[in-house]
This record gives sequence, C-alpha cells and structure tokens, in this order.
Amino acid sequence: MARVYNWQIHRPMSYWYPENRPKRQFAAVFDINKCIACQTCTLACKTTWTSGKGQEYMLWNNVESKPYGCYPLAWDLGLLKALGFQTWNGESYSGRTIFEAAPVGERVLGWRPGDRDYAYPNVGEDDCAGRAEKGAAFQVPHELMWFFYLARICNHCTYPACLASCPRGSIYKRPDDGIVLVDQGRCRGYRECTRGCPYKKVYFNPLTGTSEKCIACYPKIEQGLQPQCFANCIGKIRLAGWISTPDNARPENPVDYLVHVRKVALPPFPQFGLEPNVYYIPPIHAPAAFLHQMFGPGVEEAVKTYRQAADDPDLAGLLGLFGSTERVLPRWKREGDWIMGLDESGRQLARVPMREPVYINGAYDAKYQVVRTNCP
Ligand code: SF4
Ligand code: SF4
Ligand code: F3S
Repeated sequence: MARVYNWQIHRPMSYWYPENRPKRQFAAVFDINKCIACQTCTLACKTTWTSGKGQEYMLWNNVESKPYGCYPLAWDLGLLKALGFQTWNGESYSGRTIFEAAPVGERVLGWRPGDRDYAYPNVGEDDCAGRAEKGAAFQVPHELMWFFYLARICNHCTYPACLASCPRGSIYKRPDDGIVLVDQGRCRGYRECTRGCPYKKVYFNPLTGTSEKCIACYPKIEQGLQPQCFANCIGKIRLAGWISTPDNARPENPVDYLVHVRKVALPPFPQFGLEPNVYYIPPIHAPAAFLHQMFGPGVEEAVKTYRQAADDPDLAGLLGLFGSTERVLPRWKREGDWIMGLDESGRQLARVPMREPVYINGAYDAKYQVVRTNCP
C-alpha cells in the first residue's frame, strides 16, 4: 500500500497505488434541489450506451429517491454497515476508509450484490421518510416528511476502488482527463471491481464475460461537449467541467468556484476515501444528520450558502449557467445582469440573463386572429 493525500478527508491515507493525478480531472456538479426525477438522463445514457444484449440491467446513470431508493439494493447501506463507525474530527476524517478497513489479503473493503439486488431499479421511488395521519395538514418547509432525488453516475474517482481491486490491472484512469475505463481486451470477468466499487457503478456483462461502466461519454468530452446525461437533463441540474486540487483552485473555473471557493457542492460519502469527482449541492429540506453522513461535515454550511443564493448574484448567476449549453465551460464570469460561460481563451460559449424576461400575450392574437383560451 502507498501513502497518498486525499483532500476531501483532509489527511493522507493508504491506497494500493502511489498518487498519480491526471493532467486535468473530469468533474461534475449536480444540484439536487433542481432534480425532478424525470429519468431523462437515465434514458439518454441507456439509449446511447447500454441497449445491447447482456446490458439490460445496467443503469450507468440512475436516479433514486433517498432515503429508501437504491440501485442496486442497499448499495449504500451494505457498505456503511460493514465500515462501522465513521467519525470526523472537524474537517478531518478520523475513521477508516474502505482501503484502510480492507480485510487481510484484500485490497478494499467491499461486497458483491447478488442478482436479485439488481431486480428493483425503482424501489422506494417517491417514498417519504416520516409519516402524517390521513387528512393531516403540514406546513412548508416541513421537517417530518422528506425525500430527495439522487442522480448517480460513476464518480471517476481520484482513487478508484474498482481500479485498485482488479487483480489483472484491467481498469485504468486516463492521464489526460482522469476518466476511469475498463479495458475490454484485458478484462477476464474476475468481478473484483463490482465488489470493490462502493457506489456499485461497475456492471458485469454475462454475455461478454467482462465488466462495463460509465465512460463519462469520453468521445463527447474529447470534443468539448458535455456527456449525454448532462446535455439531456430537463431540470438543468448538471454542470460538467474540470476540478483542481484545493491549493490550485481558480475562481473563474465554475467547478472550482462551487466546490473550493463557495464550498456549496460536496462529494458523496467522502469517508469511503475515493475522492469522487461528482459533487452534489445538498438538498435543503432533508435532516442534517442524514446529509452529514452522506456528504460529510461541510453540509450545513453548504445548505446555508445555497439558501442565501437569492441575495448572492455570483452564485445565483452561476447556478443559472447549468444546462445552458452542450459545451463544457472551463471558465465563467458575471457582468452586471449577465452570466457568461467561456472557453479557456476567454471566448464566449454561453450567455444567460440573471432574470429571464417574462412575456405576457394578450388573449386575442391579432396575427392569427384567434383567442387563446389559456390566456387570462
Ligand atoms: Fe470506479 Fe466506482 Fe469510482 Fe466509478 S465510482 S471510478 S466505478 S470506484
Ligand atoms: Fe452514461 Fe455518459 Fe452519463 Fe456516463 S456520462 S452515465 S456514459 S450518459
Ligand atoms: Fe478486473 Fe473487474 Fe474485469 S476485477 S478482470 S475489471 S471484471
């Protein structure tokens, strides 16, 4: 085991390979508060990459309703239980990561879901935590009943457990963009990767005898375009880009700004130790204890910052840039009431107003000589 630094848990940790960060790291921010669970992302991925034989059960992108939704079944609870207590000392994680908690002779603390665990992709959908008596009224915002939608793809982790656990070295992290891929020519179906990934984002294909996973739509990324599940997102919750380490953070980089500068977007289960590169703006109506376990100790500050976004033109403006273009936006800036997405040389790729103009049509449309009944 090598010693590497994991900035998300603010300490060095053990990992199977030495630290070897890519030239730049693909990353994403998902705003949970905007997700409507329409599953358009799921279908955009499914129809692009996993419509073949042996791939029927694969959902490289899935959206589940927390707290009860999960695909595969109990992907999170299974590992949380095995890992035991996860304690933080301020920002520093003082418990064990899944690499440090690996049983003797194994590289990762993991578990392999059974076939039936993949049989219920919509389990828990729209189920609330808490309950109200029939006919009871509740006030908004409410604390007793809650759920939120969690859209999930592979996190293209800095320290991937799938990569660490493959005894054949069939999984690699691309040096140019940090995207994690399975080499289909090398893979022999040992399935240690499906056991090792705590997010359960590697899927075994019984027909080819190899494992497959989200490829971050690298053919699109290579052309400066956002992946399919991003470009097709109805709720405009997703932003793809590049993340720096905290000491190299650049405020003009949208992902750096949200993750490092404003600290409003957080990694899922940072205590697992993988330094995942998909970040979530946490839901503002879920209990703090639940969110703390899922997103770590920064969650209360993140929710506070997000709640104040209406009085924060930079943050509100940048959130408005999500879903505004298919292009990846490595830079951004605000000029008055306009937010601009830029390429690395400063060329404008997208331009969004702080406030959308509102047009109210009269009931009578003189051009077509019709009365529109849906107008006041
Ligand atoms: Fe590997 Fe899982 Fe991390 Fe994706 S989320 S890179 S499959 S460990
Ligand atoms: Fe699928 Fe591409 Fe989204 Fe990955 S990034 S889940 S491959 S659409
Ligand atoms: Fe390795 Fe997973 Fe294939 S463990 S051999 S990449 S099934």
